[in-house]
Amino acid sequence: MQKGWLPGPSQADSPHVRGGNETAVLQVDKLTKKFGGLTAVADFSFTLGHRELLGLIGPNGAGKTTVFNLLSGVLRPTSGKVTLQGEDITGLPPHKLTTKGIIRTFQNLKLMKGLSLLDNMRPAFHLRGSSGFRDSFFQNARYALTEKIMVEKIMDTLDSIGIGQYRNVNVEDLSYGIQKRAELARALLFEPKVLFLDEPAAGLNPQETDEVMNIVRHIHKTTETSIIVVEHNMKFVMGLSQRVIVMNQGAIIAEGPPAAVQSHPDVIKAYLGERAWKKQAQALEKNNGHAPKTPQEGSGC
Ligand SMILES: Nc1ncnc2c1ncn2[C@@H]1O[C@H](COP(=O)(O)OP(=O)(O)OP(=O)(O)O)[C@@H](O)[C@H]1O
Ligand SMILES: [Mg+2]
Repeated sequence: MQKGWLPGPSQADSPHVRGGNETAVLQVDKLTKKFGGLTAVADFSFTLGHRELLGLIGPNGAGKTTVFNLLSGVLRPTSGKVTLQGEDITGLPPHKLTTKGIIRTFQNLKLMKGLSLLDNMRPAFHLRGSSGFRDSFFQNARYALTEKIMVEKIMDTLDSIGIGQYRNVNVEDLSYGIQKRAELARALLFEPKVLFLDEPAAGLNPQETDEVMNIVRHIHKTTETSIIVVEHNMKFVMGLSQRVIVMNQGAIIAEGPPAAVQSHPDVIKAYLGERAWKKQAQALEKNNGHAPKTPQEGSGC
């Protein structure tokens, strides 16, 4: 593992934190998805800044994955509009969005069993299509993509997140933590403009979680990518994100810097339920007005 990715202080606390600037990369307006009688996502609007690292949280069933499915083309919205750098991309299928630089990882791993780690990375080059090739890699559009160049590029990326030594190992024989990192590597090979990470720490032990956290932090620091991360592990999401959006029952209930969002009454209610919230409020009164702690803080929920 590279030195820069060893567990360190929270980026949000770091004096070197680089916020997303005002340039909107992604603009989402009143995005809505109905499944029959159920409104999974309701009038969901937000803007993602250039190089911003945004956390999206909410209780189970809040609609987080549905938002990712809508933004990555897996689902078509019932209504609403999505704009990528000024271009209307609403309802485009996944392969079109991929060539435009919108890439996601999945809540459940989507690696190809029976193939080595290296071979799992190859489709990134075929799927992103010619328009997705970036100048940084292909100086010239007519430049042939040779096997040698492709493998070098893959190995650079695998090494950069500390898993290059597993290149010839069948992905089924890799630990869950390495597989999660492999998904990140494959996403990076697309050189995404916007990267959606759906529960990148799910199922990982604390050490693996720290490793993935440091990889995401490194991607944020060293690339042009804007990132949205969905994660139930509050240490992970609050430690990484510059801004957090909280959703419940398909709608945004709070939005702001991690510290402010964690103590927001509606957020505590959404996670704990009304009765638990009242208990917390009573404790708050007894505690001379000190804000009640959210039990999710520092752990999974
Ligand atoms: N393809 C689908 N068809 C029908 N209903 C769906 C579909 N996908 C999601 N839902 C419903 O939409 C709601 C939001 O689900 P979603 O998976 O987006 O929640 P989530 O916030 O990602 O939850 P979790 O934290 O458990 O992953 C749920 O009620 C879910 O049952
Ligand atoms: Mg989900």
